[in-house]
Amino acid sequence: MTRTIVITGASDGIGAAAARQLHAAGERVVVVGRHPDKTRAVAESIGAPWHLADFADLDQVRELASVLTERYARIDVLANNAGGIFGERTLTRDGFEQTFQVNHLAGFLLTNLLLERLIESRASVIQTSSVAAQRFSRFDIDDLQGERRYTASTAYGNAKLENILFTKELARRFGDRGLSAVAFHPGAIASGFAGSSRGLWRWMYTNPLASRLLTPTEVGGARLGWLALGTPGVDWRSGGYNAKNRPARTTPLADDPLLARRLWEQSADMVALPTR
Ligand SMILES: NC(=O)c1ccc[n+]([C@@H]2O[C@H](COP(=O)([O-])OP(=O)(O)OC[C@H]3O[C@@H](n4cnc5c(N)ncnc54)[C@H](OP(=O)(O)O)[C@@H]3O)[C@@H](O)[C@H]2O)c1
Repeated sequence: MTRTIVITGASDGIGAAAARQLHAAGERVVVVGRHPDKTRAVAESIGAPWHLADFADLDQVRELASVLTERYARIDVLANNAGGIFGERTLTRDGFEQTFQVNHLAGFLLTNLLLERLIESRASVIQTSSVAAQRFSRFDIDDLQGERRYTASTAYGNAKLENILFTKELARRFGDRGLSAVAFHPGAIASGFAGSSRGLWRWMYTNPLASRLLTPTEVGGARLGWLALGTPGVDWRSGGYNAKNRPARTTPLADDPLLARRLWEQSADMVALPTR
């Protein structure tokens, strides 16, 4: 059976590579991006439908969720892949710190708004997290907006830890209704994801010599694709965190169920979700 696979952040990098590979494997891919020309170009190259939303604006995420619900009777896989590392601390128009909103809160909202469709489809929800959760997070559940402590790296590490905590809580809350969730580190992948950041991050990902040390985009895309095509409970464990297509270690904070629950509750309050 052909699967319907929705990939956010599919206008470029890992998401675009995964979209092309999954299309080539015969799946029905739905390309979600922010930049209209880039998104259309990826979608048209594979004859896929495409939709736009800037995750720094939660009303656009709400609109995206309503369009996806209307257009697609099944969603077998939702890949929450949009994200990146940014520079100075900036607030979105919703009043949240940008790294937190784009990497975590927008995907949290999109998933929740699609929840009934995902449950009906017994879907897999994939979060593109990062080894940065282990290396750079200084997570404080009482400072999700980085008001007390902010650097671009810590905000990014925290957001990628939030991807893992969200994955675990999603699996815990809805696993018995057939939903599966997994987070993964794609590798240090040659992409434009640090283009809006500064210092070492920007240098590493934009300097032609340094970026030769990075792994090709297609490898990152294939790791996303492996999870999308895999069978939860057989190829990967729901609620787990993978790297290189196998379970991987990350910060012990990711295993704290209370933290996962508190993050869910605070995120739900921020986006005014009804209590479930
Ligand atoms: N590259 C790495 O080494 C690496 C390592 C670990 C994890 N990751 C994660 O992998 C994911 C994909 O990144 P990538 O490496 O493929 O980088 P990329 O080529 O820059 O792709 C990032 C994607 O996210 C989208 N995006 C960024 N900000 C957005 C916003 N405000 N609203 C909606 N979409 C937005 C981008 O859209 P535009 O085309 O409009 O910019 C693009 O489609 C990210 O979550 C990143 O954190 C990357």
